[in-house]
Amino acid sequence: MNIAIAADHGGYSLKQELIPYLEGKGHNVIDCGTDSEESVDYPDFAEKGCGKYLGGEADFVILCCGTGVGISIAANKINGIRCGVCNSVQVARLVKQHNNANAIALGGRTTTPELAKEIVDAYMSAEFMGGRHQRRIDKITELEQRQK
Ligand code: RB5
Repeated sequence: MNIAIAADHGGYSLKQELIPYLEGKGHNVIDCGTDSEESVDYPDFAEKGCGKYLGGEADFVILCCGTGVGISIAANKINGIRCGVCNSVQVARLVKQHNNANAIALGGRTTTPELAKEIVDAYMSAEFMGGRHQRRIDKITELEQRQK
């Protein structure tokens, strides 16, 4: 798969752990920064990562900040992005099965690299269930359109 990954300084070290892990499994990882632990602003990196999905270069996006919360809030302001903060394998599965999330957010200060790898694997192995969940996603899209 083509996977975009982006982080602020709070998620930098987790991003650096995930890149070789995913490449080792044969995925093409597009690293959208940041490139150090120097303080940066997470909305900028939400935009860079999600831009790769919206531009068709990535199949989905992994976003990392200190908690996963700030970068997910920013990502969810971008039309067409559905980002879920994942702090367990169960949530990771459900954000794909029910929400068809095209981005997942992880907390570099709250989630160990080992758990983060399990979370990413769970998300990637899950399948969207459609049906009533598609109806709800369609309503989210309508909400976006009403904000324009
Ligand atoms: C940065 O210090 C921190 O606020 C950020 O990484 C994130 O946790 C925000 O939600």
